[in-house]
Amino acid sequence: MPVLEVRDVGKVFPGVIALGGVTLNIEQGEVRGLIGPNGAGKSTLITTIMGVHRPDSGSIWFRGEDISRMHIWDRVRKGLNATHQTALYVPELSIRRHIELGIMVNGFPATDVMLIAETVGLEGEMDENPDVLSALGAKKLEIAKALSTRPSFIMLDECFAGLSFEEGMEVIEIIRKIAEERQLTVLVVDHNLALVERVAHVTTVIDRGVVIAEGTFEELFSNQDVVDAYMG
Ligand SMILES: Nc1ncnc2c1ncn2[C@@H]1O[C@H](COP(=O)(O)OP(=O)(O)O)[C@@H](O)[C@H]1O
Ligand SMILES: [Mg+2]
Repeated sequence: MPVLEVRDVGKVFPGVIALGGVTLNIEQGEVRGLIGPNGAGKSTLITTIMGVHRPDSGSIWFRGEDISRMHIWDRVRKGLNATHQTALYVPELSIRRHIELGIMVNGFPATDVMLIAETVGLEGEMDENPDVLSALGAKKLEIAKALSTRPSFIMLDECFAGLSFEEGMEVIEIIRKIAEERQLTVLVVDHNLALVERVAHVTTVIDRGVVIAEGTFEELFSNQDVVDAYMG
């Protein structure tokens, strides 16, 4: 049974059909890519899975349970978490504090803080404020925050945006590490196809709110619908 099942999910915003019936199945332990042109509905899919908003139609199942009507915090408690396109920080709080929050709220042991910091490579900057971080450092902190709730499934939105190829490869190393060491299932969303190709086992393509293809990169880019979506 897939760990996550998105069944025919629709989401309409005033004047725009963001998701027009998306179906997606992700297996335990998979690193899945999700690509698609700007405005395709990638971020809306993530926020709908997290419970930021309710789907207008269809349902979302996590580990065999219908979570479509569940509050965001209950979804987090069940093991889901995500990083968002734009990082959110409290400038007065140290990096350590940002990672500690999710750990304390959930009553997890304080030792999680350093373990997570070491996993993402922020252990030397824990007492700094987030505004000293480079674009890569900010991505690391986003991933650290998502890990702080001990998720079993994380979704990383625009996880390579603003990074060089080499920095993107560092993020890929972190993704591989967490997938292996923490047995996480990961959904990687980005525009940088060369980087998504390097980390994802299977990639799903969405365009205008619907899934148009799914497969390895070789399969995807021999598909005319995918080429057309990217070439306009
Ligand atoms: N909160 C919102 N209110 C209104 N429209 C939105 C909102 N979020 C996204 N949209 C619209 O939904 C569509 C899909 O957006 P989004 O999911 O952000 O796409 P992507 O992440 O693939 O670029 C776009 O047309 C976008 O303008
Ligand atoms: Mg987006």
